[in-house]
Amino acid sequence: MEQPSAEAEYASGISNSDAPWDLFDSRAYLDHNYQDLRQDDRQIIMAVRDYFCEHFRHRQPAGKLSGIDVGSGTNLYPSLSLLPWCSDITLYERSAGNVVWLEREIQHYSSNWDRFWQLFTDREPYRRVGDPRGRLSGLATVEKGDLFDLRPGGWSIGTMFFVAESLSTARTEFEEALAKFIAALTPGAPFAAAFMENSEGYRVGDLEFPAYPVEEPQVRDCLAPRTDDLVITRLGFPGEPLRDGYTGMILACGVTS
Ligand SMILES: C[S@@+](CC[C@H](N)C(=O)[O-])C[C@H]1O[C@@H](n2cnc3c(N)ncnc32)[C@H](O)[C@@H]1O
Repeated sequence: MEQPSAEAEYASGISNSDAPWDLFDSRAYLDHNYQDLRQDDRQIIMAVRDYFCEHFRHRQPAGKLSGIDVGSGTNLYPSLSLLPWCSDITLYERSAGNVVWLEREIQHYSSNWDRFWQLFTDREPYRRVGDPRGRLSGLATVEKGDLFDLRPGGWSIGTMFFVAESLSTARTEFEEALAKFIAALTPGAPFAAAFMENSEGYRVGDLEFPAYPVEEPQVRDCLAPRTDDLVITRLGFPGEPLRDGYTGMILACGVTS
């Protein structure tokens, strides 16, 4: 019997469990996205840095917080954004290859991340960290898991970058992923979540991965009932697009209700 073409299969929808996460090419993804600090990541880092600094300027936490970065892939800067406030950080990831990469990388992260960290240190709480490489290796643990199974209320600050819209073609899974992320945080927890706008899917190495083409109103509809102080920022293309097939980035910061 004739097999459906990749295009036909894509058009009919790919769920999260259909995609080959364990074959995700960590090195190819890292080289394509994070060997250099791009303009769009620069903008996102500054916005997240300033959001967390302002949040904690008004509300000093009683003690250190438990942080989580969901779907870390081969991106360390969401975890770096949590460093000043955390006593532990969980890097939660489904792909076996990315888990291996993360476990090695957090021990003594590579020099490409120095440029990312440099941007954070424009603000005092990050400067006080002193030794971010040592701090991350002391605080971070990698947990292999499926975000749809995330335990509720387990963490008190969180990040999730380019995951909810980049794990399947289904709107229902986008919404569920975002709801699970928020539910994993305690009430009053600050968070930052980033999204590729209108993504048509993405290639990593030789493999295609699915995406849901999200826009700002859907992010707002999903987050507004679950959060306070929601700030959503749309970022266009200040330099070259990261890859074909999306129209910008969306950053949502807020506090869980
Ligand atoms: C587009 S990548 C984003 C990686 C990284 N956060 C970044 O900012 O570049 C999507 C990530 O989500 C992970 N992922 C996909 N489905 C997942 C699931 N159900 N639970 C946890 N992680 C998942 C993938 O393995 C991959 O690392």
